[in-house]
Amino acid sequence: MNVTVLDTKSKLPKTELLVVFHAERAAPRLPADVEVSATALGDLKGEFRDLRLADGISGPAKRVLFVGLGKPAEFTVERLRRVAALAVQRAEAIGAAGAVLWFEQALCESLGGDFAAGVAAGEGAVMGRYRYARFKTKQKPRKLERVVLAGAGKHFENGVQRGRVLAEANLFTRDLQNAPGNALTPRDLAAAALGLAKRSKRIRAKVLEVKALRELKLGALLAVAQGSEEPPRLIHLTYTPKGKARETIALVGKGLTFDAGGISIKPASKMWDMKYDMSGGAAVLGVFHALAELDLPFEIHGIVPASENLLDGRAIKPGDVITAMNGTTIEVLNTDAEGRLILCDALCYAKAKTAPDTIVDLATLTGAVVIALGHELSGLFASTPRLEQELRAAGEQVFERLWPLPLLDVHKDQMKGEVADLKNINGEGAGSGSSAGAAFLAHFVGDTEWAHLDIAGTAWGGLNRDYVGGAQGSGVGVRLLLRWLENRASA
Ligand code: BES
Ligand code: MN
Ligand code: ZN
Repeated sequence: MNVTVLDTKSKLPKTELLVVFHAERAAPRLPADVEVSATALGDLKGEFRDLRLADGISGPAKRVLFVGLGKPAEFTVERLRRVAALAVQRAEAIGAAGAVLWFEQALCESLGGDFAAGVAAGEGAVMGRYRYARFKTKQKPRKLERVVLAGAGKHFENGVQRGRVLAEANLFTRDLQNAPGNALTPRDLAAAALGLAKRSKRIRAKVLEVKALRELKLGALLAVAQGSEEPPRLIHLTYTPKGKARETIALVGKGLTFDAGGISIKPASKMWDMKYDMSGGAAVLGVFHALAELDLPFEIHGIVPASENLLDGRAIKPGDVITAMNGTTIEVLNTDAEGRLILCDALCYAKAKTAPDTIVDLATLTGAVVIALGHELSGLFASTPRLEQELRAAGEQVFERLWPLPLLDVHKDQMKGEVADLKNINGEGAGSGSSAGAAFLAHFVGDTEWAHLDIAGTAWGGLNRDYVGGAQGSGVGVRLLLRWLENRASA
């Protein structure tokens, strides 16, 4: 789909479909020369997501779609993202090959300016059209070829370009998430990372294979992988800024390409969802997809430990003791608490090899966070109030919201082992499962500024938000981290 920008000050070109957005009980404002019959607009309410299609009786638009925005007091950037997505979906459904989405300047102003409105319009239009059809042998034809986003001036246009970059990065991540476990092994995830390095001179990708992992003693990652035929990988992406780096930031993502639980096997019900257990890693890769087109003053590392968690005669067993990269010994009491094991080695690696000022990790780490927060909020554990506040603010802006959860000394103490230095669960029936996972990781971070995002609830299965939501992967984390980085860059 080709997305272009038009200035609302210029004349509307001939179009099959014009989309106009309007507030509740406010007469829609049409571009010059466009006319629809008064009866077609009778009793138009304009509640949020209300739709009305009318024929153009004269002028450049063959048909006009009216999309309700609700009350002005309720306007948000999120609404704009949603109605832009809804508009392209309706355009597609009615068989239009081209559509113009018309964003009045007054509307953009009420949403925080032309740039922000352009970002949301670009994000909504691009993400709203996503479909995962890789394994459908009969591809449904896609009619909508051209979308024109009309808004005011250069700021809107720049916003749209930014929105497209963010949306395409999000969709890149969703494609990785949605791929089934047999089509996306650790080696495939590593290949995707190597592909990212080809998109920009400022991005390098390094993939550590088993021999290198042994030499560096990533014993926890190797232990999780040993029950599988598929060899593990450690992906290391680096973004180098144009000038001198202001800070070094490490983004770490859980890349468990299928989690059967290991010997502590999961029940069969919905086990297929565990193909999504690489969502944190996929989000880190998505960030680098966008970084190829952005300028940020940081050295940014993306580190993704990739493995399957299966069970065979060589698999780790409950009670086994393994040794992480930094020498810490771990008693594996439950092989299904594997995410923290592959992540602890990735955190050791990040600290040893990149000396980061700040680490943020993303992981589908615990079922418990789904119980606590559901599918619309990710769990947030941050080691400093500044980082907590920064990430939450970014989360509000991109509508990938975060909620803080506790990580106290009691949680860290619970992870101390009887037989080894640490154990990988806090006990049977101990509760506070998400804090326990975070506390385990905290033992490997030391005093580096760090945040852990538990995205087990938000990586898939959220509410329908028009541009995202439902059973498939959401790409959560990509727009969030990019916004956080951009905010920090301009602070
Ligand atoms: N990948 C799962 C967490 C998960 C569960 C994500 C459900 C999304 C939905 C993780 O590896 C896991 O199995 N965690 C265990 C930890 C437990 C054994 C302490 C869990 O949450 O049950
Ligand atoms: Mn597990
Ligand atoms: Zn897992």
